[in-house]
Amino acid sequence: MKNILLTGGGGGIAKAIAALLAVEPYRLLLTTRAGDALMSFCKENEIQAEVYSADLTLQSEVEALFEWTETFGGVDVLINNAGVSHAAASWKLTADELHGLMEVNFYSAVRCTQLALPGMRQKGYGRIISVSSVVAHKPAFGTSGYTASKSALEGYMRGVALDVSTQGITANTIAYGYMNAGMLNDVPQTILDDIRTGIPQDHFGRPAQIVAAIRYLIESEYTTGQTLHINGGQWMP
Ligand SMILES: NC(=O)c1ccc[n+]([C@@H]2O[C@H](COP(=O)([O-])OP(=O)(O)OC[C@H]3O[C@@H](n4cnc5c(N)ncnc54)[C@H](OP(=O)(O)O)[C@@H]3O)[C@@H](O)[C@H]2O)c1
Repeated sequence: MKNILLTGGGGGIAKAIAALLAVEPYRLLLTTRAGDALMSFCKENEIQAEVYSADLTLQSEVEALFEWTETFGGVDVLINNAGVSHAAASWKLTADELHGLMEVNFYSAVRCTQLALPGMRQKGYGRIISVSSVVAHKPAFGTSGYTASKSALEGYMRGVALDVSTQGITANTIAYGYMNAGMLNDVPQTILDDIRTGIPQDHFGRPAQIVAAIRYLIESEYTTGQTLHINGGQWMP
């Protein structure tokens, strides 16, 4: 049994993919800031998962989270999914505001990765998958902060991949295009229509596609330091 730790477990995408990830040979560990609500969600949807409450911007809570994962045998697959969207024109975005955004979108992943790595190194096995965005490659107006946070995450993953390249551990990023869950639900319909016209496949991504990419990255020992793009052709490297 391999343990998958998925952060941001109460988010829209996490809820959309949890049932697909919580299947043999994987045990799903979810972390969220709202444990009771997520436990109820799992129960209602018959999702077999363990849930732990932590604010990933607080080092002490992340340390407690990783101690909790030890009771299940540690983390084999870490999915750094927690993140917040952000919009501000760059002439209004202050360093303090960007710092707050980086705390969630970047440093939470750094905290989790650093604490996951010792156990992975000991096992000689690990998969670290961080969640980025097409916006990091093709920014829209007002996304300089969000773009910076996700670009930092992608660069960090490449560095991690190199550090552990001989230890059975891979580190990669999945850059989502506009997926039909989570943050997308906050976008007004007129803007959604506009965004869709820029997607060659003419539809938003389905959560099952995310799970297919995660499974691939878990299974591929020779894919590391990469950013996998799932965006319906919206951006092509
Ligand atoms: N939806 C899309 O189209 C899309 C596109 C590109 C990239 N993404 C990326 O995909 C990931 C998931 O997005 P989503 O659409 O599911 O968004 P979402 O519904 O807003 O979920 C994001 C989750 O991140 C967690 N989070 C936020 N602040 C946190 C903090 N301080 N400590 C711990 N967790 C915190 C929250 O989890 P809890 O509520 O459980 O605390 C939140 O529900 C994000 O990294 C996002 O940037 C999404």
